[in-house]
Amino acid sequence: MSTKITPATLQRMKQRGEKIAALTAYDYPMAKLLDECGVPLLLVGDSLGMVVLGYPNTTLVSMAEMEHHTRAAARAKTNALLGADLPFHSYETSDQAVANARRLIAAGAEYVKAEGGRDILPQIRAIVAAGVPFIGHLGMLPQHVLEEGGKYRIKGRDDVGHAKLLADAAALAEAGAFAVVLELVVPFVAQEITAQFPFATIGIGSGRHCDGQILVTPDLLGTYPWFTPKFVQPKLQAAVQMRTAVQEWRAAL
Ligand code: KIV
Repeated sequence: MSTKITPATLQRMKQRGEKIAALTAYDYPMAKLLDECGVPLLLVGDSLGMVVLGYPNTTLVSMAEMEHHTRAAARAKTNALLGADLPFHSYETSDQAVANARRLIAAGAEYVKAEGGRDILPQIRAIVAAGVPFIGHLGMLPQHVLEEGGKYRIKGRDDVGHAKLLADAAALAEAGAFAVVLELVVPFVAQEITAQFPFATIGIGSGRHCDGQILVTPDLLGTYPWFTPKFVQPKLQAAVQMRTAVQEWRAAL
């Protein structure tokens, strides 16, 4: 029988140099399946806005939607550490951040994640002080994609971007984040952050040298075939097989 994964387990994996696999799960069957595969870290990501709910980006996802999907995934009672994203505009103040983090915990999340560094430091401190385990998210912040002209841009290319990432990472370490997602960060900066800070770094499109890697599961499995990020190499084209299965069933009616 596998043992329950905790934030301390992930810290030990970092210390041992054991790679941390992380994937998104938005419902009961996917959380259960990924848990059965031994994936130690699961996230009910607000990417569900795009790959499940059909929104153009993650900015429209509501707390109620995050709670609904978190409840579904949490019913799988995983050994994996299962957490959820605080959606856009749900952590504008410290009080609001703590109240909404508690709502996600009540829905079954074991940690929460929010996007940003020094700009949301009071909120992160308040969440951690309330006893809620916290994962940070630096680099490309999808909740701010509209401010970036709708483009998902790589971060840390120039000296200013590099210094900003290091300062934000230092703030997250000081605030007590046990892990930090690094999204679309230049690989050498992701490597530097991984070496310099105690939290586990979980990369997405940020090179090989993070402590772990996360993917949006539909990108890995090919269940959302209309868009796949450039850095993902899908392991399955499930949509192709699904279409074939449906067409074969229909033709045999
Ligand atoms: O929303 C999400 O799924 C995420 C991961 C891509 C890290 O934030």
